[in-house]
Amino acid sequence: MHTADYISAIPELMRDRSLGEQPLAFIHTYGCQGNVSDGERIAGLLEAMGFGFTDDVNKADFILYNTCAVREHAEDRVFGNVGALKHVKRRNPNLIIALCGCMVQQQHITDRFKESYPYVNLIFGTHVIHRLPELLYRLLTGEKRVFELSQEDCTLHEDMPVRRDGRIRAWLPVMYGCNNFCTYCIVPYVRGRERSRDTDSIVREFEDIVKMGYRDITLLGQNVNSYGRSADCPARFPELLRTLDQTDGEYWLRFMTSHPKDCSMELLDAMKDCRHTARHLHLPFQSGSNEILQRMNRRYTRERYLELIAAARERMPDISITSDVIVGFPGETREQFEDTLSLIREVRFTSLFTFIYSPRKGTPAAEMEDGISAKEKSERMSELLRLQESIAAERCASMVDSVQRVLVEEQMSDGRLSCRTGGNIIIAADCAGDGAAYVGQFAEARVTAARNWTLAGELVTG
Ligand code: SAH
Ligand code: SF4
Ligand code: F3S
Repeated sequence: MHTADYISAIPELMRDRSLGEQPLAFIHTYGCQGNVSDGERIAGLLEAMGFGFTDDVNKADFILYNTCAVREHAEDRVFGNVGALKHVKRRNPNLIIALCGCMVQQQHITDRFKESYPYVNLIFGTHVIHRLPELLYRLLTGEKRVFELSQEDCTLHEDMPVRRDGRIRAWLPVMYGCNNFCTYCIVPYVRGRERSRDTDSIVREFEDIVKMGYRDITLLGQNVNSYGRSADCPARFPELLRTLDQTDGEYWLRFMTSHPKDCSMELLDAMKDCRHTARHLHLPFQSGSNEILQRMNRRYTRERYLELIAAARERMPDISITSDVIVGFPGETREQFEDTLSLIREVRFTSLFTFIYSPRKGTPAAEMEDGISAKEKSERMSELLRLQESIAAERCASMVDSVQRVLVEEQMSDGRLSCRTGGNIIIAADCAGDGAAYVGQFAEARVTAARNWTLAGELVTG
């Protein structure tokens, strides 16, 4: 049977099992935008199989947790939430409970679900999303539990339907997997090797998204800078940006994540030249200490990182730079942590995603000596956050009275409009007249006040 046959067989099989007229799915996604994008493809498949969607687990006929393994905390929440489903399943024995995503690509985790959570019916890995119709079919035609975690099938499947979550921002994967093996990170183990989509498929999807009216489009990959290196396609990432930029329309083009080791001057030139690229670069530095960077296997130095920032600012003086940083990598000394603080002071990021190091089973860093206490790590984190907050507050204060081009994303309950700048800063803006009419439109906003790292303003209309 082909996927299409499984898809058309499901509605009939679900008819007797669902609580209402139409079977309803509840999907909850954890983790990065890559996972969000997978979730949208899974939702697309479920929609094709006749499912509607609900936010209420008690009304659902199919519950799916799309999991993340990047830190322990992310995994704990999944165990907690799946544990709570036991009662829901008791009330509705026909309920199908499924798990997918990065967490279940780890043998020790899947074993735990298999043994201790017998009411979980279906577990499938990150490489077999396209086979969901077949897996569901097997479940509905007699198999009690289905586990499909093969690592082998790494083919990219281009023909999956997509049910996007938003109407304004869209995610577009350009590559999957990661080859970098940073010593703290689980992603290469759970997502497999880098695979790039071919340029034509990306261009086709991109044009569709623009036509549908999406205005803020983010190209996704664990390391977008190595786009094309793993495929037969000759294009490289800067070239891909230039190609996509030729698509007419009013939209911003962003990308995530760039790895500093592969961030080239060609990329910065392309960003500068393209009409649609938002003036925003997310470039994770992880640590300001060369010794730690080396032990993390990041393959760039603090000096190289600062050189890239200078080169980006030289080309685009108004560029907004955001980053990821890890505090408390095994054995990180006070001095090494201070190198991180001084890098933050030097770069003055718009915002930072901050993480306390979390040991991941099977990664090299999890085996490294770590004499630093949890208390010390959390104190360092607070110190780092205080520093970043004061920088963000100063940056925001310096924007007061400026006029920014913004994309109006939604009207909030108090009537104000939540607007995003190209630099990824949110402005809560007042607006004369019908605010709802601006949602989804580009506009100009004058910044009137800064409150710490958020901005208030008013739309410049007329
Ligand atoms: N591919 C991206 C990052 C993906 S994971 C890159 O290389 O930049 C997102 C972020 O989670 C990382 O940048 C890192 O800061 C953080 N992270 C990953 N593994 C972690 C771990 N074991 N403990 C704490 N933070 C971690
Ligand atoms: Fe993880 Fe490093 Fe790959 Fe990013 S580049 S996903 S941090 S291994
Ligand atoms: Fe998490 Fe997997 Fe993304 S581990 S951060 S969901 S790639």
